[in-house]
Amino acid sequence: GKGEYRHFMLKEIYEQPQVIGDTLNALFNPAERTITLPALPFALETVERVTIVACGTSYYAGLVARYWLESVARVPVDIDVASEFRYRAPPLQKGGLALFISQSGETADTLAALRHCKAQGLWCVAVVNVPESTMAREAHAVLPTLAGPEIGVASTKAFTTQLVVMAALCLALARARHAIDRATEARLSRGLAEVPARAAEVLKYDDALHALAQEVAEARDVLYLGRGTSHAVALEGALKLKEISYIHAEGYPAGEMKHGPIALIDETVPVIVIAPHDGLFDKTAGNVQEVIARGGRIILLSDAEGIAHVGAGVAHAVTLPVVDPFVAPILYAIPVQLLAYHVAVIKGTDVDQPRNLAKSVTVE
Ligand code: M6R
Repeated sequence: GKGEYRHFMLKEIYEQPQVIGDTLNALFNPAERTITLPALPFALETVERVTIVACGTSYYAGLVARYWLESVARVPVDIDVASEFRYRAPPLQKGGLALFISQSGETADTLAALRHCKAQGLWCVAVVNVPESTMAREAHAVLPTLAGPEIGVASTKAFTTQLVVMAALCLALARARHAIDRATEARLSRGLAEVPARAAEVLKYDDALHALAQEVAEARDVLYLGRGTSHAVALEGALKLKEISYIHAEGYPAGEMKHGPIALIDETVPVIVIAPHDGLFDKTAGNVQEVIARGGRIILLSDAEGIAHVGAGVAHAVTLPVVDPFVAPILYAIPVQLLAYHVAVIKGTDVDQPRNLAKSVTVE
């Protein structure tokens, strides 16, 4: 049941410190700070290219993973939504690695893509939350997310546990490919090990996010901006908001604003910026000033340093704890979930069962 919570979605948001910890503990040896993946039928050091296929929120987890796999494990990544991938006829390398990310393990397009890749001779690994699902059965190997049953149609804890699995896979690949030195590996592992505790800290900002929800609930359109892994979080934030509040929202790479969407900016369009103080922060801060100059209302999700550096004119800022940039997308996912949740509650929608949506999309 929902216990003390009003909706399954809220309960599942609050379960994240626990289930992120469970997922991590199955892959991570805290004493040695090393990743141990379940047995795989191929050697990680032979992986030269990764293909990622998924839908919806699971696809956004794949987008975060692309940044990680390319920048940390130095492996080229090809990623697409399953409904496009399966009809693209991409040339695939026999013996290559394909990852299928799915909460349900039953999504029709993702399953079809898995079957296609398997027939082409790729190693198929399923990152799934339902261990007895079709994808888990048909893949060569499974990397499980231990989120437990996710009832809310809007995916929350499945997303953050998918990210944990992908981060662990990234570290294991980076080591196998000699892509990172021991010091970097230790730093990234430490960041990952701290995620459950940091997630619990981030949940304490629930009231601060709740306080912003009214303004967002009054909007007709909302933009979410970010760069790098925060771009994927922006896309996820926009999806969460539209699916449960029915407010039109778009996620954009912050640097793409001036190529079109900046025309939408006026004082009625809240612009939610995901910007931990990382290596791309100054670039995003520049985009924030461009929005402010056009009368846009910025809601900034950052840390104390980011907020100190962004300059004047931000309408609202939420000061989140300082986190390692590597794991920031896992933690910044939580405030965007909470914000969407509170907006939907204000709107009076059916949060756990939004209109027109099914939890598991088993038809093409
Ligand atoms: O079960 P899956 O992860 O394969 O589902 C993929 C999408 O249908 C799913 O993530 C959908 O986008 C969610 N409703 C998002 O909250």
